Amino acid sequence: MKLSIFFLQISLLSTTLLYLQPTKALPLSTNGRWIVDESGRRVKLACINWVSHLEPITAEGLGKQPLDTMLKSIASMGFNCVRFTWPLFLVTDESLASMTVRQSFQGLGLNESIGGIKVNNPGILDLPLIEAYKAIVENLAENNIMVILDNHISKPGWCCSNSDGNGFFGDKYFDPDLWIKGLNQMATMFNESTNVIGMSLRNELRGPKQNVTSWYRYMQQGAEAVHSMNPNVLVIISGLSFDNDLSYLSNKQVDLTFTKKLVFEFHWYGFSDGQAWANGNPNQVCGQVKASVMRRAGFLLDQGYPLFLSEFGVDQRGLNVNDNRYLGCILGVAADLDLDWALWTLQGSYYLRQGVLGLDEVYGVLAWDWCKPRNSTFLQRISTLQSPFRGPGLSDVPPYIILFHPLTGMCVTTKTLLEPLRLGPCDESEAWTYSDQHILSLKGTLTCLKADAKGQNAKLGIICDDSTSKWDLVSDSKMHIATKLTNNSSSICLDIASDGTTIITNACKCLNKDKACDPQSQWFKMVTSTRNVVKKNSLSKAISDEGMWTAQ
Ligand SMILES: *[C@@H]1O[C@H](CO)[C@@H](O)[C@H](O)[C@H]1NC(C)=O
Ligand SMILES: *[C@@H]1O[C@H](CO)[C@@H](O)[C@H](O)[C@H]1NC(C)=O
Ligand SMILES: *[C@@H]1O[C@H](CO)[C@@H](O)[C@H](O)[C@H]1NC(C)=O
Ligand SMILES: *[C@@H]1O[C@H](CO)[C@@H](O)[C@H](O)[C@H]1NC(C)=O
Ligand SMILES: *[C@@H]1O[C@H](CO)[C@@H](O)[C@H](O)[C@H]1NC(C)=O
Ligand SMILES: *[C@@H]1O[C@H](CO)[C@@H](O)[C@H](O)[C@H]1NC(C)=O
Repeated sequence: MKLSIFFLQISLLSTTLLYLQPTKALPLSTNGRWIVDESGRRVKLACINWVSHLEPITAEGLGKQPLDTMLKSIASMGFNCVRFTWPLFLVTDESLASMTVRQSFQGLGLNESIGGIKVNNPGILDLPLIEAYKAIVENLAENNIMVILDNHISKPGWCCSNSDGNGFFGDKYFDPDLWIKGLNQMATMFNESTNVIGMSLRNELRGPKQNVTSWYRYMQQGAEAVHSMNPNVLVIISGLSFDNDLSYLSNKQVDLTFTKKLVFEFHWYGFSDGQAWANGNPNQVCGQVKASVMRRAGFLLDQGYPLFLSEFGVDQRGLNVNDNRYLGCILGVAADLDLDWALWTLQGSYYLRQGVLGLDEVYGVLAWDWCKPRNSTFLQRISTLQSPFRGPGLSDVPPYIILFHPLTGMCVTTKTLLEPLRLGPCDESEAWTYSDQHILSLKGTLTCLKADAKGQNAKLGIICDDSTSKWDLVSDSKMHIATKLTNNSSSICLDIASDGTTIITNACKCLNKDKACDPQSQWFKMVTSTRNVVKKNSLSKAISDEGMWTAQ
């Protein structure tokens, strides 16, 4: 019962966002850095990864929940797309392709999982593995969820290490010709599935053999193969070094016979930088890592290609300091760039991973039993990133700024000019402007944000030419919004009061050097948005009734 109440709440939340994302006209293509539908309107990929490339070669979780329940929960958690993994040998090794789900589990001694599948998804159990994979894609289509087919590995099993023989062309299990053959087969097999909107050619290239020359050669071949068999899908290309590096594209672009279908993907985890987040000052690490990500991948947006952040994620128990600090930073970056993305990951647990039965996936949005979300606070934090902020065809609203707070996933809102500013849902965000003089004003008004005193509420006022209404972005993270009081030369920063919602000003936290402190309550990202402003409060009514609000 608890479960259905939760999903009801989440689905109400999603319903309020639906106006932003009407039904898409597939197939998709690209327009500069944006992915767009047939009408030219931006479609933002807000995907979840779902694993089907481990030894059983079956989508995880079928023993825990009926497929339809699972798919409804994916949609109700706000995801519009699944990055669905497959191992190459599923289609190139005939004995695997013809093996049934039951036989695959029997061969691995996974009798309990067979029992679970028999109860929850009996129709799948005696299908050949490839038919089971297709059945899930079809069910996703019925639930209006887009699919990206991701060739994750060759030999079924957990991915990825430098020495697993699946890392680069020419490795033990990675024959380029066989790979092209497999891509051909998958592209053909799904050429009439309109909800299959993209194919990821190969996950996380890596290992001692990796080199740029072969990358261009084979990625171009793979892209052409997929496009020739299925010209509808987006062709998604990943980089070297575990998909952390596409920097070489700044000098030389890929050479393809087709246009409007090419998307690059990259991966960014907390552990991509070792323990840098836990061992460093979070503001400095955020600034440095962001700059590095822009050099390795982010520059592609400026070159006019969509960049799909196809894996990111954290330990959702909140126990990993490295992950916690990284999450605030990456959510700010992903909001600012309005990236397409795929969260790692859906599965709460695995049938069998690295030899462990029923392994708990602490990065999974579902709990171990697959019956409820692992952490609803986490879902709240990503929820506003699930709809687009801007892009072609979305609205006629001129760009404005929202103040996004990654720690909560909320935005700065106000009900009336006289009430304190508070965190609230981002679709009820105030529309701000940020002037060259560094004044943060409510758009279309003469009202600006002001500091009063340390520890006091931030407020709105109409005297906007004094120092307490001038706000700078300080620290390397550029996520502290700071001003100075007239009688004190130290900066004070926007912060959240102990009630968890009221916006106050406080001494700025850990601007540099300090490694032990966590600045995230003070992290606000100025994000450019053209979303229709949905205001339910008296302030916006006053603004829209009066045209301009000047009184206080
Ligand atoms: C698993 O099931 C098969 C077929 O029903 C049976 O032969 C086998 O003994 C079972 N294995 C275990 C470990 O229970
Ligand atoms: C580049 O990759 C190819 C294909 O995997 C491999 O044969 C070759 O040895 C690699 N070159 C270098 C310099 O590592
Ligand atoms: C899909 O591929 C099959 C097999 O090659 C072919 O018969 C069919 O015409 C293709 N459909 C489309 C829409 O291209
Ligand atoms: C959810 O995440 C938050 C923030 O990281 C953490 O404080 C909380 O304990 C987590 N809840 C659960 C149930 O893991
Ligand atoms: C600065 O001004 C504030 C508000 O007027 C006052 O509360 C505070 O005591 C002053 N501090 C100093 C050092 O004068
Ligand atoms: C000035 O502000 C800083 C930071 O808010 C604070 O640490 C310091 O005590 C203040 N100085 C005075 C003289 O009030």
